[in-house]
Amino acid sequence: MKHSVAASLATLAATAIARSNPHQCAALATDTQLQGKVLLPNTAAYNAEVDTYYSANAAQHAWCMVLPESTADVQATVKILAKDQCPFGIKAGGHSAWKGSNSIANGVTVDFGYMNTTSYNPDTGIASIQPGARWGSVYEFVDPYNVTVVGARTSVVGVGGFTTGGGYSFHSNSHGFACDNVVNWEIVLADSSVVNANASTNPDLWKAQKGGSGNLGFVTRIDQQTVEGTQLWGGFTSYNLSETDNVFNAYLDFVENTQENSPDQTIIALYYDYTGFSIRSILTNNEGIANAPAFDGFLALPNISSTLTVGPEAEIIPQFTGPTPLGLYANWFTGMATNSFEALSIINKLHPEYVAKMVAAAPTSNFSTLIEFQPVTNTMVQNSDKRGGNILGLEPIVADGPVLMWLVALTVDTEENQAVILPIAHEFVAAINQNLQEAGRFVNWAYLNYAWGNEKPYSHYGQANLDLLTAVSYKYDPNGVFQKLRQTGFKFS
Ligand SMILES: Cc1cc2nc3c(=O)[nH]c(=O)nc-3n(C[C@H](O)[C@H](O)[C@H](O)COP(=O)(O)OP(=O)(O)OC[C@H]3O[C@@H](n4cnc5c(N)ncnc54)[C@H](O)[C@@H]3O)c2cc1C
Ligand SMILES: *[C@@H]1O[C@H](CO)[C@@H](O)[C@H](O)[C@H]1NC(C)=O
Ligand SMILES: *[C@@H]1O[C@H](CO)[C@@H](O)[C@H](O)[C@H]1NC(C)=O
Ligand SMILES: *[C@@H]1O[C@H](CO)[C@@H](O)[C@H](O)[C@H]1NC(C)=O
Ligand SMILES: *[C@@H]1O[C@H](CO)[C@@H](O)[C@H](O)[C@H]1NC(C)=O
Ligand SMILES: *[C@@H]1O[C@H](CO)[C@@H](O)[C@H](O)[C@H]1NC(C)=O
Ligand SMILES: *[C@@H]1O[C@H](CO)[C@@H](O)[C@H](O)[C@H]1NC(C)=O
Repeated sequence: MKHSVAASLATLAATAIARSNPHQCAALATDTQLQGKVLLPNTAAYNAEVDTYYSANAAQHAWCMVLPESTADVQATVKILAKDQCPFGIKAGGHSAWKGSNSIANGVTVDFGYMNTTSYNPDTGIASIQPGARWGSVYEFVDPYNVTVVGARTSVVGVGGFTTGGGYSFHSNSHGFACDNVVNWEIVLADSSVVNANASTNPDLWKAQKGGSGNLGFVTRIDQQTVEGTQLWGGFTSYNLSETDNVFNAYLDFVENTQENSPDQTIIALYYDYTGFSIRSILTNNEGIANAPAFDGFLALPNISSTLTVGPEAEIIPQFTGPTPLGLYANWFTGMATNSFEALSIINKLHPEYVAKMVAAAPTSNFSTLIEFQPVTNTMVQNSDKRGGNILGLEPIVADGPVLMWLVALTVDTEENQAVILPIAHEFVAAINQNLQEAGRFVNWAYLNYAWGNEKPYSHYGQANLDLLTAVSYKYDPNGVFQKLRQTGFKFS
């Protein structure tokens, strides 16, 4: 008895040593191709990389991190990971929030942070972007050519996760999602070969990667068709809370009347922080036209303040986004509802009830909640299909008209405060879904890029898309490296 306890303690100690210095990291660090590109714990470079994550929840300490600088580096990496059966994670811009979305504690994080360049070919109008680039740097790079890209609405977000997960942009009514504008993916497959996936070569992989996230391979280059013109009219407008119903009606009316390929879009947001509750809109026109007639309903409302302005996306997007602090405890949840006053009211009524519970549970916490409402419209989905289609499965979702996508973002100051507030956020999300269901306003779809770890976005994308993902995964990754060894992000299986 005594002996076996000692023996198992010895096993535990051996496991701990293996964990802190696993042989896979030695194999990676000594590979000639990867010299100097593998970061080990307790080094300044490793610690600096941990600090690049948006959410403290997501920033896990891997056995080691590989920071490839080229496609060849990624090939060398996957060769070793697959051969040594090494669990791994994939990180690009590090803006997913949940623990396990992009980094791994028991394994190796493949971090694309150093593959962050953009190039542009004026003859084809195609921007070639590495997955670790931030959208802000892409807007700046292409701006002198008088073009822009279908990218994020916040400059700090990464290209890799955003685009492989869909990518809702200020250009989505007119051009679909970011992934729809990808004319070619360069992908390193599980067997370490490099392939192009486009409309004529590997078209099944091309389509499946439009929403496929990390399920199929390491995406090493994204060739995206750019959009002519750089001017964006946009900004935040704040309203008195007494205007809430009027803001809701302006939003619903705007969405119902969305014209085909419209340059106009809107988001409305409910906000709570230590200063109290607020409501605001984000109005945008991607042709740089101010006060377009589609916004008449919003512009007729009295407002408290507005940052609306016109300029190149490279300047306007960072300007009105403001700072996005890193290292707080961020948590995102999403779902869908019919485009209805009742759905907006249900969420608006539950919000202060659950904030009150959060404040009561953690009275000294400095936390915030942000609830964003944004439409998925028919013209967005038509623009996806026109460009070859993606696997998001939105066609049946918008068949009866535009729908309401909601996002709840909870940001907490400390881990201790989050431990008591997060369970209440889960109750809030459950209450939203239950109340929407009871009111007949629930729509069964969840967007991967906003989803919490347990939301299973692929279960909402429809059988035909799941069948495509399964077939493509089996064809290009027959041993299931990206299903079994990849531990981060969402799996379709
Ligand atoms: C402030 C903020 C603003 C946002 N704005 C928008 C917005 O306007 N529209 C929108 O749609 N979303 C938005 N998002 C959500 C965003 O799309 C996701 O968080 C997205 O995952 C971020 O991309 P990333 O590269 O930073 O992701 P990471 O967290 O680094 O990666 C996320 C996932 O993508 C996969 N992945 C990343 N790189 C690769 C690769 N090279 N090959 C294969 N798989 C890969 C990984 O498996 C990982 O699971 C926003 C998020 C934040 C925090
Ligand atoms: C790419 O990443 C490096 C290392 O973090 C950074 O110094 C550089 O500014 C980044 N380049 C761009 C275009 O963002
Ligand atoms: C971009 O547009 C500006 C202003 O219209 C023009 O002066 C410039 O030559 C254009 N640049 C390119 C690369 O087309
Ligand atoms: C598609 O892939 C083929 C094969 O690699 C390549 O020759 C072609 O240029 C690619 N097409 C696009 C649009 O990138
Ligand atoms: C908001 O509206 C209320 C009620 O009409 C009013 O009392 C209050 O002063 C307004 N607040 C602001 C900031 O305008
Ligand atoms: C905000 O209100 C001011 C007047 O106070 C008005 O000039 C402006 O057009 C309004 N802006 C919006 C976006 O409603
Ligand atoms: C709360 O946190 C925000 C940043 O997230 C900060 O700007 C603000 O000053 C803090 N407020 C208090 C009262 O601590």
